[in-house]
Amino acid sequence: MSQVRETVADPEPVRDRVRFGVLGCAEIAWRRTLPALALTPGAELIAVASREPDKAGEFATAFDCAPVVGYDRLLARTDIDAVYIPLPTGMHFDWATRALAAGKHVLLEKPLCATASQARILLDDARRRGLLLRENLMFRYHDQHRRVRELIASGEIGELRSITARFGIPPRAADDIRYRPELGGGALLDVGVYPIAAAQLLVPGPLSVAGAMRALDPATGVDVHGAALLVNGDGVSAQLEFGFDHGYRCAYEIWGSRGHLVLDRAFTPPPDVTPGIEIFAPQRRVLPGRPDDQFRNALRAFVNAVRAGVGVDVDPGGVGDTAAAVLDRARLLDRVRAVGAQTASST
Ligand SMILES: NC(=O)c1ccc[n+]([C@@H]2O[C@H](COP(=O)([O-])OP(=O)(O)OC[C@H]3O[C@@H](n4cnc5c(N)ncnc54)[C@H](OP(=O)(O)O)[C@@H]3O)[C@@H](O)[C@H]2O)c1
Repeated sequence: MSQVRETVADPEPVRDRVRFGVLGCAEIAWRRTLPALALTPGAELIAVASREPDKAGEFATAFDCAPVVGYDRLLARTDIDAVYIPLPTGMHFDWATRALAAGKHVLLEKPLCATASQARILLDDARRRGLLLRENLMFRYHDQHRRVRELIASGEIGELRSITARFGIPPRAADDIRYRPELGGGALLDVGVYPIAAAQLLVPGPLSVAGAMRALDPATGVDVHGAALLVNGDGVSAQLEFGFDHGYRCAYEIWGSRGHLVLDRAFTPPPDVTPGIEIFAPQRRVLPGRPDDQFRNALRAFVNAVRAGVGVDVDPGGVGDTAAAVLDRARLLDRVRAVGAQTASST
């Protein structure tokens, strides 16, 4: 313990606002995160870094911040408290390690890391340094899941028997990072993490993997779709499907001893899309959706946690953000990869 104290400096206290830098001019940053960050109380975007000057300039102009060429240069700045990292998954571990070493809090895009061993090292590192490290799995911050959990807890559909959760998207451009194994590509890591996180949120744990399959694209070597069966100690099961050679679908269904409920657009509802919760218990009725902004909610939660000095083991929102839950999720991903029978994809 005393050795750790000697080698790790206390992070600077952050009081009134959290000053952000961004590593990588990613599509998700452009489309979702940076517009939401601009509306987040207590957050200020200071700089965005790219490997390419033109991209850094374009982002800096659009989001009114400084352009930086090179991720290391951004990490060396002393006017930044926290970094948002939307790099390809295979680069998360390396750059989050460097960001923590530079004394920055880290909001890391999902999935946290490509393997559970990397996730464990990173979470331990953040804890040791007293810095916040969060996986930016934003769907959990939409109010619709709190309402679903309340319905389950109230006994609306009876005793929980099983859930089914799916996330599939249409194919991406051939040069997309998701088709590159060396960048941590593949459907399991990219979209499979969502149904696994939904199972964690809805089924009392601990969960284990009873079976799985992954279909590999022979041309790229990455998995393009797959499925997994998770179970808990009380015989509640979670059937999960994921892929990026699908018609778009993101939904879950929860089945109990009295009825079931269905939530469409479970993982990516834009702020103006409110599908509502369909309940069959036993008659069908629809609880109208309420507008909510998971992108802003997730950022607000991160900013508030940094300002409050909350570490990786505290999850004020109860949405599965503790280091233990994040690590469990990474272990489930590892396990699905390990046990998943491999078949060739037909696409
Ligand atoms: N939370 C969500 O809803 C959500 C949604 C989509 C994606 N994501 C996650 O966000 C991350 C980025 O996804 P994305 O779709 O936004 O990716 P993307 O547009 O391809 O962006 C990735 C960025 O990484 C940088 N980069 C560094 N080395 C690279 C390399 N060798 N090849 C390609 N890019 C490289 C590039 O920035 P520079 O050229 O500027 O250096 C690039 O813009 C992934 O981890 C993904 O899982 C999260």
